[in-house]
Amino acid sequence: MIIAIDGPAASGKGTIARRLAAHYRLPHLDTGLLYRGVGARALAEHVKFDDEAALAALAGGLDLSTLDPEALKAGIFGEAASRVAALAQVRARLLALQQDFARQPGGAVLDGRDIGTVIAPEAEVKLFVTAKPEARAARRHRELLQRGESVTLDAVLADILKRDERDSGRASAPLICAADADILDNTGLDVEQSWQAALALVERRR
Ligand code: C5P
Repeated sequence: MIIAIDGPAASGKGTIARRLAAHYRLPHLDTGLLYRGVGARALAEHVKFDDEAALAALAGGLDLSTLDPEALKAGIFGEAASRVAALAQVRARLLALQQDFARQPGGAVLDGRDIGTVIAPEAEVKLFVTAKPEARAARRHRELLQRGESVTLDAVLADILKRDERDSGRASAPLICAADADILDNTGLDVEQSWQAALALVERRR
C-alpha cells in the first residue's frame, strides 16, 4: 500500500504521515527534507539559486542517510527548499530516489507536494491536507519559537503565503490536489482531531 500525503507548508501533513507510517508499520519519507537538503547545501556552498545545473548536481549527490531532519526544519531552509524545488532539473534528479522508496515491497508513506500527482500517481491512498494560511502560520510560529528562533507571526504568515504561491505557481510539479485525493481541511482541528480524521479517510480507501 502506498499512502501519498500532499499539502501546503505547515498543514500538519508531516505529523499525519509519521503517525500513519507507525500505525500501518510502513516506512516513511518526508520528501520536503530532500529539497531542504539541497537548499541547505546551496546556502553552505554559496551556489546561486538561479544556477540550475549546479543545483541539480547538488541534488544528484544528495545522500538521504546524512540528512539531519531536526537541523533542516529551520525556517531559512524552508525558503531555500522552495526556491530549488521550482527547478525542473533539481526535481528530475530527486525523482528516482522517491519512486524507489514508494515502490518498495510492502508499501510506504510519503509526504510532500507532488506525491499523488507525480511521484506515485498509482498510490492506493491519497490525502491532500490543508488549512487556512492563518491557522498554518500560527502552528509554524509556535514550532519555530519552540526551536528557539525569534520570529514574528506576521513574518511567518508572509513566508507561508510566498511559499504557497511559489509552490502552486511553478511550472514543474506544482502543488495541486490530485483529482482522486481526499481533502482534509484541518483548520480549527487540533492535532488529535486531525489525526482521527485522516485515519478515517485512509481506512475508507484501503
Ligand atoms: O514540506 P516542507 O516545508 O519541508 O517542504 C519544503 C519545500 O520543499 C516546499 O516549500 C516545496 O517547495 C518543496 N517540496 C516540493 N515537493 C515535495 C516536497 C517539498 O516541491 N514533494
